[in-house]
Amino acid sequence: MSLTRRDLLTSAALLLASPRGAFAANEARPGGASAAPTADHPYLLHWNENPYGPPPAAREAIAGTIQQTCRYLTPNDEDALIALLAGREGVAPQQIVTGTGSGELLRALGLMVGREGGEIVTADPTYDELVEYGRQTGATIVTVPLDKNLRQDLDAMQKVVTEKTRLVYLCNPHNPSGTGLNAGRIASFIEAMPPQVIVVVDEAYIEFANGPGVRSLAPLLRTGANIVVLRTFSKLYGMAGLRFGYAIAPKALAETFGPLRMTWANVFAAPAVRAALGDIDFAANTRRRIQASRLAITGELANLGLRYAEPQGNFVFFDTGMPHARFAELMKAEHVIVGRKFAPYDNWCRITVGTEPEVDWFLKSLRKVTAKGL
Ligand SMILES: Cc1ncc(COP(=O)(O)O)c(C=O)c1O
Repeated sequence: MSLTRRDLLTSAALLLASPRGAFAANEARPGGASAAPTADHPYLLHWNENPYGPPPAAREAIAGTIQQTCRYLTPNDEDALIALLAGREGVAPQQIVTGTGSGELLRALGLMVGREGGEIVTADPTYDELVEYGRQTGATIVTVPLDKNLRQDLDAMQKVVTEKTRLVYLCNPHNPSGTGLNAGRIASFIEAMPPQVIVVVDEAYIEFANGPGVRSLAPLLRTGANIVVLRTFSKLYGMAGLRFGYAIAPKALAETFGPLRMTWANVFAAPAVRAALGDIDFAANTRRRIQASRLAITGELANLGLRYAEPQGNFVFFDTGMPHARFAELMKAEHVIVGRKFAPYDNWCRITVGTEPEVDWFLKSLRKVTAKGL
């Protein structure tokens, strides 16, 4: 594909506007990337997006693909992308199912169980895309509370699994609590499952984890385990708007839920994902910065005497000491949009780890708000 002068200028402008690690998602903010938030342009710390993204190499790839917007993603390009992902995961290409975000794959899995009238076991609260879609399409949902450290309680979940259970949904790190489970412990949980049970491990935030043994279960897919591991380019790679994720599954299972997807990837996905995976510096820098800011947040929460769940993702779930609605309203007055309420944690709030200026502003606001609210 040849690039015109205009393409090159566009991509150069995008790159210049976003030097490595700059505050990409805030570029539209009047006054520049690190400008203070206003009522019209608040800091968006509610959806666990990664404002450092997209990686510079992916921006360039997207800009260089603008001319192709009139085309569909070709089967060849999709196959090449699947082969790339399969190679990285050490599995066969038939074990990879791509989705317009991992959310589409969660829904396809929910639908797979729902249309059979099957049963899904999950923690409560949890990220609910699979669970809600399953419920809406006919599944029965069995929920298990988090344990006292706000971790998914695998012992208690194992106890409610019966011959009716078709799928167990785990989220590691967990959303909304942010807590992580040890991969070895999840592996023994999987081994103890009856053969009809598929364990889905949603690893949307796994790249941010640094707790002991909190790592991907994907290697189990090389040994024929009856699990599905989900990954996304929305979080570490900062490309939520691109809508691309993938599942790794046993071949037969991939063939069952793959056709339940609603659509297929857009034309930017293949070049952007390829470029993002190649941008090692971006991934390493982002992980380092998010982990450092996460530590700054938990440090301040400890100073303020506010309890928090041990965070392993790009967000922190903490007890605000007041009803969620009041906290959200006070933070909104500081031009910070926070995560929604997750019952039964009615005083708790989930906050996304944004850029360093965003985190500084949030902590300053938190000090003000807690002094006012208590
Ligand atoms: C745990 C979890 N899984 C999956 C998703 C869906 O992400 P996407 O559809 O952007 O890949 C999210 C989004 O926030 C999430 O928190």
